[in-house]
Amino acid sequence: MIAKDRVIAAALAAAMLGAVLFIAAYATGGSRLYEGLSLALSAAGLCGAAVGWAFWILPDEQVEDERDDYPSGASDRAAEDLETTSGLIDVTRKRLLTRMLYTALGIFGLALIVPIRSLGPALGDAAFHTKWRKGLRMQRENGSFVKASDLNVDSVATVFPEGAVGDAQSQTVLIRVGDGVAANAGGYIAYSKVCTHAGCPVALYRTAAKQLMCPCHQSIFDVVNDGAVVAGPADHALPRLPIEVGSDGYLRATGDYPEPVGPGFWERG
Ligand code: FES
Repeated sequence: MIAKDRVIAAALAAAMLGAVLFIAAYATGGSRLYEGLSLALSAAGLCGAAVGWAFWILPDEQVEDERDDYPSGASDRAAEDLETTSGLIDVTRKRLLTRMLYTALGIFGLALIVPIRSLGPALGDAAFHTKWRKGLRMQRENGSFVKASDLNVDSVATVFPEGAVGDAQSQTVLIRVGDGVAANAGGYIAYSKVCTHAGCPVALYRTAAKQLMCPCHQSIFDVVNDGAVVAGPADHALPRLPIEVGSDGYLRATGDYPEPVGPGFWERG
């Protein structure tokens, strides 16, 4: 291997070493300094190898091959044999460098992919479901559970699934509308508190009109008409939580929301 090739090989080796050190530092929770230095070493090695490759390996000359007399003389054949032999050596040398280059690129690419772990746990189906499940009681922010006898007619409470107080996706506004409203449980009706426009909490209840209003952009939802949009920029109704009054008098969900809560997204019709 000639000196220039050794320089390229050394640069590629440095690139591989840097990438491996970066992965090791990241996997063991090492300092950001080591991670930065190792990644810089790897990148510098690759850059150096690329420059060396461009200057020393890629041909930059125009070559003319003159037509020889036929048949070749013995001296020409000997010279050809010598050239072929040295060419084979050259091919072998370049093959080694090429393999080193691919290996270095592969490890460097791996080093760039590994930090994806830091993006946190996968979202899973969190965008499609809340923590409401069949049989879960409604829990207030202070931890108490809601009984059917707790609220007066036209009263409102913010509730969460039992054991998931504070879960933003699951926050629900519970309203005691009275028995005159169709399809409610014990005079109660419950809607997602996450506005379907931009996700603000739908916090205001207009008692006389039986409407919920979002304070952010004034979307208004009809409580007695399945949360339909009455006014404002929201383009679909508030999802309604299926509920019942249990035999123990506590209000419970009979399942999750039938559709994703909050603003629409592309998977949603
Ligand atoms: S977020 Fe509710 S109206 Fe805009």
